[in-house]
Amino acid sequence: MREEGLLATTSSPEDDALDRGLRPRHMGDFVGQEALKDRLSILIEAARGRGESVDHVLFSGPPGLGKTSLAGILAQEMGAQFRATSGPALDRPGDLAAVITNLERGDVLFIDEIHRLPRQVEEVMYPAMEDFQLDIVVGKGPAARSIKIDLPPFTLVGATTRVGRVASPLRDRFGYVARLDYYDRADLVAIVHRSAAILDVVVDDDGAAAIARRSRGTPRIANRLLRRVRDYAAVRADGVVDEATADRALEVFEVDERGLDKVDRSILEAVIVKFGGGPVGLSTLSIAVGEDPETVEDAYEPFLLQEGFLQRTPRGRIATERAYQHIGVARPADGSDAQGSLLNE
Ligand SMILES: Nc1ncnc2c1ncn2[C@@H]1O[C@H](COP(=O)(O)OP(=O)(O)OP(=O)(O)O)[C@@H](O)[C@H]1O
Ligand SMILES: [Mg+2]
Repeated sequence: MREEGLLATTSSPEDDALDRGLRPRHMGDFVGQEALKDRLSILIEAARGRGESVDHVLFSGPPGLGKTSLAGILAQEMGAQFRATSGPALDRPGDLAAVITNLERGDVLFIDEIHRLPRQVEEVMYPAMEDFQLDIVVGKGPAARSIKIDLPPFTLVGATTRVGRVASPLRDRFGYVARLDYYDRADLVAIVHRSAAILDVVVDDDGAAAIARRSRGTPRIANRLLRRVRDYAAVRADGVVDEATADRALEVFEVDERGLDKVDRSILEAVIVKFGGGPVGLSTLSIAVGEDPETVEDAYEPFLLQEGFLQRTPRGRIATERAYQHIGVARPADGSDAQGSLLNE
């Protein structure tokens, strides 16, 4: 399963421990996402100028791109307390009430995986966000009564990897919805250098670039690969991470030069070899590679689509020219040539 692999986008316990040390604390440490940081800074400064709390903010985007980090930075920049919880932890309205009645003026309440908030809890959230009012029913049957509690102004910061699953009444109550995108090569190089400095690893520019290009646009993966390369450099080389060392280390861990691992390659191979290049449906493809469809769709496909190895069509997934080249299979000249000209590079 991807979740256990070196290229997993979700965090492992080792990541969580290391994330704490590597997590940027100030806006200035947060690499890239310039437009987003700019807007966030305006929001923060304006709120500070008015002496108010910042409007509610929703961060969306794939795992490991810095949503939790930004939420912490927002609190830090506001000089506010950071209170963190998650959608699945807020099972019943009472759970939310317990958290929310403990907030102090200006606090940042961070709700991770906010798309997993149950509907009844969501409904309690609406007046809390809009009017800083908690409106809740206590007791059951004839003894039930509704109570209203005034809350201090606070900032709700939500994070989600699935913005499409956030109910629209909830989404509409955020003053700013920010989408994080995959990082480009230069930003990832900067992130590797920053993390290397914190971890006390010597990495040269080519070494950092070798790690960055396999990081799937994701800082968390860049940090994880850096740690594995560091281990390799310590025991099999002279401790310095240059390009050759990074390349060899990542070969040992079966991460190829485009940042694809075994499962990614087996997906491409299946489309090409078993299904003649496609189109093939998600469930058929998933069975062929022995993964469940949700894992293929959430964990593998986004990167393969983004990098132009796969294309999604109404009839299913098809392999692109780039996929054929990467897997090293010649594309049939007469085949269903859905992407136009072939072998013209
Ligand atoms: N822009 C950045 N600059 C420097 N480091 C970053 C940046 N974004 C993320 N990181 C690093 O990646 C790690 C993961 O980031 P973070 O936990 O904030 O991601 P996330 O979007 O909340 O992920 P998830 O969806 O899994 O909760 C951080 O600990 C940090 O070290
Ligand atoms: Mg997070």
